[in-house]
Order: sequence, then structure tokens, then C-alpha cells
Amino acid sequence: MDRIRINGGQKLNGTIPISGAKNATLPLMIASLLTDQPLVLDNVPRLADVGLLQRILGNHGVDVMVSGKRLGETQYDGQTLHISAANVIDTTAPYELVSRMRASFWVIAPLVARLGEARVSMPGGCAIGTRPVDLLIMALERLGAAIDIDKGYVIARAKNGLRGGEIKFPKVTVGGTHTALMAASLARGTSVIENAAREPEIGDVADCLNKMGARISGAGTSRIVVEGVPKLSGARHRVLPDRIETGTYAMAVAMTGGDVLLENARPELLQAGLDVLTQAGVEIASTNAGIRVTRNGKGIAAVEVTTAPFPGFPTDLQAQLMALMTRAEGTSRITETIFENRFMHVQELARLGARIQLSGETATIEGVERLKGAPVMATDLRASVSLVIAALAAEGETMVNRVYHLDRGFERLEDKLSACGAAIERISG
Ligand code: EPZ
Repeated sequence: MDRIRINGGQKLNGTIPISGAKNATLPLMIASLLTDQPLVLDNVPRLADVGLLQRILGNHGVDVMVSGKRLGETQYDGQTLHISAANVIDTTAPYELVSRMRASFWVIAPLVARLGEARVSMPGGCAIGTRPVDLLIMALERLGAAIDIDKGYVIARAKNGLRGGEIKFPKVTVGGTHTALMAASLARGTSVIENAAREPEIGDVADCLNKMGARISGAGTSRIVVEGVPKLSGARHRVLPDRIETGTYAMAVAMTGGDVLLENARPELLQAGLDVLTQAGVEIASTNAGIRVTRNGKGIAAVEVTTAPFPGFPTDLQAQLMALMTRAEGTSRITETIFENRFMHVQELARLGARIQLSGETATIEGVERLKGAPVMATDLRASVSLVIAALAAEGETMVNRVYHLDRGFERLEDKLSACGAAIERISG
């Protein structure tokens, strides 16, 4: 299993190109199942999760062609996928595949909406929380699907197609909103989604669906209206930049000190995160090319943050912020409200010398003068990169184990960091 070795203490200076967003790419690839016409996606990141989803779609009979390199392209330019779901031969998504990536459960929506049936494995447990799919099932039922649960599979049927309906989510759910959007796009009549997620990735999927001929309005707000259409066509769509990757590298620069341009990054996708960094004493400047992050000489100020659905502070940046606060001047408090078990990184950060107390949903972080390198274990995608951020500022060597978690969501992480001066390398096998 690959590991990553880091010798801390180097400042970061230079440019980091931000890739396309993982959490937009996955639902966009799944949306290809809504049409028999080709969907072309540009700026797709090279991630393990994208590769796995290609396999899952292939299992349904979907063809995915990756464009070859084009003149002038660099290793950091995203890839282009040509996806065709003209011949869906199987509407079952098996446990072996779905259990490896929860978002693949969302295939249930386009399959039942377009083909009238879907048999999709329940995703099973997850390191960061129970993560049920009851609200996704509720949304499909509100659109007229008949749902059965059998041997760990959700079977959705709508042999005469779905019909428009009212979907009111009791809590904000990103997956629930993606599911409702895709299903309602082909339902007969009008659907209204209340208390919808407002994450930028929802807006990106709605933009793409509208290019495919859907009639969606209000995406990005908590009330979305969808006028169903009988058929969707193909389209070409560019995936928006990854705001979580942006926030992660901004936290890394804040941790080590330095001056880095996050190329392609868009501040409006991450304002809450940038505001917290400004509070912590980091200089943030928006430029035509992206976002410039600078911290030189000044210490890191302690902050109090509670995670929340967009436009609040993203839970997917909670671990990275905690790593930064381990070296803040004073005491910080971070409250996690989205997932009930998203503090797996705390004990690993403590191995580097961090002082963190947990009480219920809140972590209290006592800033320390220095961290010291040590072997640590990655537990999930975002927790693993928080260990990398801490190690970049720790004295001596840190070895991060189980980096396959990182590869799920960060493209060329060690290349991007070493190009800015970090002493980081991957040790294969
Ligand atoms: C998406 O997960 C993201 N994943 C997550 O990113 C992100 O943390 C999360 O949204 C919140 O922003 C992708 O986009 C692929 P939710 P999702 O439905 O859709 C509860 C990463 O690191 N809930 O918004 O699964 C749920 O348990 C990942 O990239 C129900 O109770 O999250 C949670 O407490 C991790 N019933 C809350 O809602 C349901 O049917 C929010 O979950 C669905 C959700």
C-alpha cells in the first residue's frame, strides 16, 4: 500500500492549479444515464472515485471514452469524458461496487426515471457516520416510484414513468437533492423541492441538465422547481473547480506560511472558508487567475467554527481547519453538525503532538508551539489530508499510511505541493 513521506518545515510558494470538483463530477457522470445521447464532460479530475464510477456505469452498459492528450495540454489539465448510455443493458448496481463508493447509489434516480426500474444495493456503513438513504428513497416515492427493500437492495419501479410532486426535505441533503433533481427532470408535470441543498455542485448539475433540455429553476436556492420533460438530449459541460481542494491548499499555505496562487479557484464557491482564514490572520486576495493565499511572519489566530450546509462552513474542510488550529495562538473550538463521527483525525493529530479535547460534537484545540513528525494512519478522505497539512509544519519526518483514501479525492497532491517547495514524496507498495 502506498504511503506518503513528509519532512516538515518548508514554506509553500508558487502556483497550485485547482482541478475539477469531485463532488460535481460524480453526479454529472451519473446524469448521463438520463439520456441515450452522448454527454461530454470537460475538466474531469483524475481520481480513484472517478475511475470506480466509470466501472459502475460500465456495468450498466454505459460507454465511457476518455479523450487523448491535446496540444498545449499540461499534466494538470482535466480530462474529457465522452459518456454514452444509449444501451443500458442492466439496471442493477451490485453491492460489491456500491459499497465502495456511496455516491453510486444515486444511479437509482436516472435508472427509474428513464427506464422505469432500478435495483441498487444499499451503500452500507461509512467511517464518518451512519449516512442512511431514507430521504433519497422518500424523494423517489414522492415522484410516484414504488419502492421495495429486498436482501440489501432498494428496488424502485415506475413502469408508467414518474410524475411531478412536492418533496420537502426535513434536513438539507446533497445526495437527496441530486436524486430529486435527476428524477424530476423526466417526471410528468411539475415538481417542487423544498429545503433543497444549495451547494455549488447542485447548481453545476442543474446547469448541465438544463443544457440537456431539462427545465430546472431555482438551483442554488432552497426552493427548486422542475418542469418535467419526456426526453433529454446530449450536451457538453465543463465541471466547476473543486472548492474543497481549494480550501485544503489554502489551509496548507496558512499552516506552513508562504505565498501561493490557487489557479482556477473561484472565491464565491468557498466564501465561508475564506472568511475563517481571514479571521485566522491569513491574507486572501481574489485575482483574475484565482485566489492568492499569503501568510508571512504573522501567527495563526484561534477561531470558533460550526460546520453547516452551504453557504455555511463545509464539513469537508473541518479536519483541515482542525489541523491548522493545532498551531494557533490560543484555544479554538470546532463543532461538527453534519456527520456524527467525523473526528477520526483527532487521535492521529495527537500523535504529532496536537492538544485536542472532544466533547460531543465539539472539539477544543489548544494551540501548540510545534508539532513533531510521527507515523500516522489515514482513516477517510478529508481526515487523511488534514494529517498531510499538519505534517507539512511538523518538525522532522511524518509517514502517512493508507493514502488510498487521499487518492479518492485529491489529484496529484504530492506533485502539486512539491512544486511549491514541500518535502513530500510517495512511497509505492
Ligand atoms: C455529500 O454527501 C458529499 N459527497 C460529502 O462529501 C459531503 O460531506 C456531504 O454532501 C455534505 O456536504 C458527495 O457529493 C459525493 P448529505 P451526501 O446527504 O450527499 C443525513 C467528501 O469528503 N442524511 O448532504 O451523502 C446524512 O447522514 C464527501 O467528499 C439522512 O439522514 O451528504 C448527513 O448527516 C464526504 N438521510 C446529512 O443528512 C438521507 O437519506 C447530510 O448528508 C441522506 C442524508
